[in-house]
This record gives sequence, C-alpha cells and structure tokens, in this order.
Amino acid sequence: MTESSAQIGVVGLAVMGSNIARNFANHGHTVAVYNRTAAKTDAFMAEFGTTGSFVPSASIDEFVASLERPRRALIMVQAGPATDTVISQLADAMEPGDIIIDGGNALYTDTIRREAEMSERGLHFVGAGISGGEEGALNGPAIMPGGPAESYKSLGPLLEDISAKVDGTPCCTHIGPDGAGHFVKMVHNGIEYADMQVIGEAYHLLRYAAGIEPTEIAQIFRTWNDGDLDSYLIEITAEVLSQTDAETGKPLIDVIVDAAGQKGTGRWTVKAALDLGIPTTGIGEAVFARALSGARAQRAATTGNLPTGELTTLDALGVSKDDFVEDVRRALYASKLVAYAQGFDEIKAGSDEHGWDVDPRDLATIWRGGCIIRAKFLNRIVDAYNTDPSVQSLLLDPYFNNEVGTLVDSWRRVVVASTQLGLPIPVFASSLSYYDSLRSERLPAALIQGQRDFFGAHTYERTDRAGHFHTLWSADRSEVEA
Ligand code: ATR
Repeated sequence: MTESSAQIGVVGLAVMGSNIARNFANHGHTVAVYNRTAAKTDAFMAEFGTTGSFVPSASIDEFVASLERPRRALIMVQAGPATDTVISQLADAMEPGDIIIDGGNALYTDTIRREAEMSERGLHFVGAGISGGEEGALNGPAIMPGGPAESYKSLGPLLEDISAKVDGTPCCTHIGPDGAGHFVKMVHNGIEYADMQVIGEAYHLLRYAAGIEPTEIAQIFRTWNDGDLDSYLIEITAEVLSQTDAETGKPLIDVIVDAAGQKGTGRWTVKAALDLGIPTTGIGEAVFARALSGARAQRAATTGNLPTGELTTLDALGVSKDDFVEDVRRALYASKLVAYAQGFDEIKAGSDEHGWDVDPRDLATIWRGGCIIRAKFLNRIVDAYNTDPSVQSLLLDPYFNNEVGTLVDSWRRVVVASTQLGLPIPVFASSLSYYDSLRSERLPAALIQGQRDFFGAHTYERTDRAGHFHTLWSADRSEVEA
C-alpha cells in the first residue's frame, strides 16, 4: 500500500465505525482505519482486513498521512468530549482544505461551534447525521451531512456511494451549512420516538381493549404494512410481537420489562422545539411516555393504587373487534401524520432561525430508505412540498387533508373509548387535541391574555382594531391604549 492512498478514513472502530468503514471498502474505496485503543484496530484488521482495502494506523499522524488530499476523516466515536478530543487531534495533523466529518449523534449546537472553530483554521467540518443503526451502517444508511457546501463536492459522492438507495436515488444529500445535518438528524430521531409510541399505543389498545393475543396482533400489523402504514417500524413490530421467549414459552413481549430507554436525541428535539416555540406535542408526549415508563419506583407505588372511576369495555360500548381494529389503525395513521407535520414544522423553524435554507423535500426523499423511519408515506410528503413548498402545515396539503378527513371519526372514537376504558394513549389523544386546536376559530388564549393583563399589565390585542391595550383592573376598569 502506498502512502496517502486512502480516499476516506474512519476514526473509532466500535460497531458503527467498523460497519461504516466496511461499507466504504465494500464500495471499492481504500479506507484508513484508526482507533484510540490499537487492539481494536488489530481486531478489526484480523476480522475484516481481507474483505476490502484497509490501511490501519497506530497513531493519528500515521492515519492522517495515509489519506489522499483533500483528506477526509470520518469520526465515529462517542458523542461529547471524545469527539472534541479527536477533532483537535485531527486538526493538528491536517492542512487547510481537509475535511473532518463527525458521524456521531452530536448536539447540533456543538456542531455549529465546532464548524466555526475548524473554519478559523481553514478546515472543513461536516456534522453528518447517520441513521439506520448497525445494519444500516454496513449496508446503506440514510446520511444527513451539514457543513460547507464546498466540502460536499468532494465528500458527497463518497457518502452517496455508501448510502441506501430508493428507486436509484441515494439517501444522502447536503442538508445545509454548519449544524443543519445534525439538527435534522435530531428531529428525525424525535419523529422516530413519536412513530414508535403511536405504534405502541395501537398495540396496547389491541391487546388490552380488544383482548387480542400478540401473534394475532403481529398478523394485523403485517396487514397494515401492506397499506398506508407501510414502514420499517411496522414491519419490525410484527417481528417482535410474533417472537416467543425460548425460556418460558410466553410471547417475548410479555417478558420484556416495560421501561423504555432513551439516549437523548428525543429529549433534544423537544428542548429545541421549546426554544423555537414549535408545538411538537407528539414527540414531546413520546419522550414523556418513555420517562414515565422508566419511573419504576413511582409506578410500583401508583400501580393499582389510583382510583379509576367507572370503567367500561368494548362490548359494553357495543364496539365490534373488527371495527375497533380498523379504528385503531386510522387513529395511528392520523396521529403519525400529526407527529410528522410537527417535526417538519420544527425543521422549518430551525432552518429559518439559523438561515440554513433546508429543503423539506430533500429530507422526505432521503428518509425513504436506510433510516429507522423509512416509509412509503414519505413519498407523499415529497409530493406535498412539491405542490406547495411553503404550505403552513402538512395537514393542509390536499392529499393529507383528504386523508385526515377519512380518519378523524375513527380517531375521535378511539380517544373516547380508550378514555372510558382507562387505557393510556398520550400521543393519540394529544395529537387530536393539537389537531382540534389548529382547526379552532377561537382558543382560550384570549382568556390567558386577559389573566396576564390582570396580574401583570402585560396588555392584549383587540379583535376589532390594531394596537396594544390594558384594562385598569384595580381602578375603574376602563381600557387604555398601551
Ligand atoms: P458504541 O456505543 O458502538 O460502543 P461509542 O461508545 O459511541 O460506540 O464509541 C466508542 C468509540 O469511541 C470507540 O472507538 C472508543 O475508542 P476505544 O476503543 O479506545 O475506547 C472511542 N472513544 C471514546 N472516547 C474516546 C477518546 N477520548 N478518544 C478517542 N476515541 C475515543
């Protein structure tokens, strides 16, 4: 192997890094590999060294020297301080024009900071969101690179090469400057939380309202996967639900502890949404639902110890099982639509705030393959933004608007029935409330403005003329213009 022969280098050879490195090699690229602990590099070479063209290095300097110019080094280490350490080591060894790519789940504000620091040194810094898990990393992930547009010219073809393809289109495109890539990856993960939660709520209702066994529910999900809900998450749900625990012979779902973990990207999505003032209620409720599920001590204390009031059953409500199953499917679809509409609202707000000029069509296009939320339905989102790039909400797009029209009666029935049965449906219910809020001509916000004016003289606007007004609440209650 000659010096400077590698088209791309990967730092960090844990599972994601190894798989990405192998993916590049499987596409005919020579890949430099380096890991802080050399034993991991040795182990990687021992296992995969003969499967492609790899150039292992024992030091960062050697690693950088093995890269073709402009050098392209992809960091796949733990997000946070480890990423900063590796960036600083690479930057010291690199030259202006070289490209450092962070493929980890970095917080987008860190990416903005790092890009500014590297740009001062003449280096390109690309924060790239990578979705698809271990399998995607090896066989084709969805990739969301941010950073300078110029760097995409040399980096893009490599990333597009290893990304998933849908109808021949790579699931990778330049998203926008600095933190844009990591921002949209973050919201992608937030949407993933909501999508998983609505599927969870549907399962829970089929199981505990309709009394259907997991293997039969798996079959129902398989049927749903042939229609509008066709998606990776629905597909794997059927797989999980049809799995039997080898040890007990029970459905695996029944022996899994019902406390959901989280690594933080859903929480970040909600925090960013709060800062941007965007109501991502679906994602928010999904994050809170995971938190509640994980509050094991509190749940141990409250389970069975809170009054239920009078509960009913589907039979008592006169609802047939088949009708209920179809209603639940529609409620899932409607709630999912709301979560996506909200996620895209957040991306637009983030893009406006930071001047990224993110094209939502690009996202819907690249999310069709490789990533966890891949779904047929994303084609409809591309169509919606093609029809009207500045549509105020995806719910207003003629196709989705018509769809919701066919779903909303079922959606309401499911929310009412679940409430009467005492079954929790945080995303189904909050999405419906969000939908009804958007529809409403009047909201109780008028009263809130009145209250704010009463206790804090915060003023209000009037419906009949321009200006800001204050009522002299503690005097004669006449109104003055503020
Ligand atoms: P996974 O969850 O897949 O194990 P991760 O925790 O996100 O991966 O990242 C682990 C990788 O980050 C490893 O390659 C690790 O290097 P070591 O094998 O030497 O532990 C790397 N890593 C973590 N901290 C690092 C640091 N400060 N400098 C360099 N690499 C670091």
